[in-house]
Amino acid sequence: MKTFITNLPKAELHLHIEGSFEPELMFKIAQRNQIKIPYNSVKEIEEAYKFNCLQDFLNIYYQGAGVLVTEQDFYDLTYSYLQKCADQHVRHTEIMFDPQTHTDRGIAFETIINGISKACDDAKTNLNVSSLLIMSYLRHLSEEEAFKTLKQSLPFKDKITAVGLDSSEKGNPPSKFKNVFEASVKEGYIPLAHAGEEGSAAYVWEALDILGIIRIDHGNNALQDENLIQEIIKRDIALTVCPLSNTSLQVVNDLKNHPLKKMMELGLKVTVNSDDPAYFGGQVNRNYEAIQEALNLSKFDLYQLAKNSFQYSLLDINAKQHYLNELEVYYNNNK
Ligand code: ADE
Ligand code: ZN
Repeated sequence: MKTFITNLPKAELHLHIEGSFEPELMFKIAQRNQIKIPYNSVKEIEEAYKFNCLQDFLNIYYQGAGVLVTEQDFYDLTYSYLQKCADQHVRHTEIMFDPQTHTDRGIAFETIINGISKACDDAKTNLNVSSLLIMSYLRHLSEEEAFKTLKQSLPFKDKITAVGLDSSEKGNPPSKFKNVFEASVKEGYIPLAHAGEEGSAAYVWEALDILGIIRIDHGNNALQDENLIQEIIKRDIALTVCPLSNTSLQVVNDLKNHPLKKMMELGLKVTVNSDDPAYFGGQVNRNYEAIQEALNLSKFDLYQLAKNSFQYSLLDINAKQHYLNELEVYYNNNK
């Protein structure tokens, strides 16, 4: 199974680039920028990465991102993640980035986007991994702040495919961002959002009906509402599920109780993703392995998950078909 998963062609659709920041690279960049971080060793970092909830994690995650200053830093962070994609047969990835985490510290939008997108271009050439970018608004900040970010992004519109909504979910419903999502869509960005990770099914309804999202990040709590499940199926919307994130943040108490298999049985379209791999104990393939083992998934289930990852990506139809053909050949030779 491990070998089957390693070589399975797949896409990753839910990944925060700031959450891919491995301790070794964080130390290196902190030193380069002469910024102090409150850890002396990788062991100390691992001790700190024990979370009771989403907010616990976010506090540490924003602190880590605080050492990123130059275009080279953003490039190194992104290229390092893309190299891991190549090693794992992640053929395509849709990368979220949180501009406000950096612009609020005085880093120019241009620095962030240029570093990240150059790494993506180089990875396409050197590693044959394709990618696109999702600009995520931080929901603990105001809609007005999100509007500022939207405006800053406009000169770089050709480098950004979609907008997302992340950070502290509870108390920050999707409806808070109705206007900025409307404006973002008018600019040509595809609307996506985290919903139903810690927030209730009502938040997922809002994300669908008020923000008009076409893919749900997490969506676990959609299972609380039978009508919502049917609506998601009717609209043919996928859930980007993150198993190890869910156990790390206590969204799910044990992987054996993870709802992924139930979601598939209900007819929901599900994908497997790492969310913040440096913080949650594993890259995307580790997520596939862990959930396969916990729920006793078959090779066919894994193939379906990989198929969904291409099918529900934001790629155009030709690129999707190219990767789906690759997957088909792989599955037929290895089932
Ligand atoms: N930002 C990074 N990871 C996140 C998650 N799992 N939920 C919400 N915001 C995030
Ligand atoms: Zn996420």
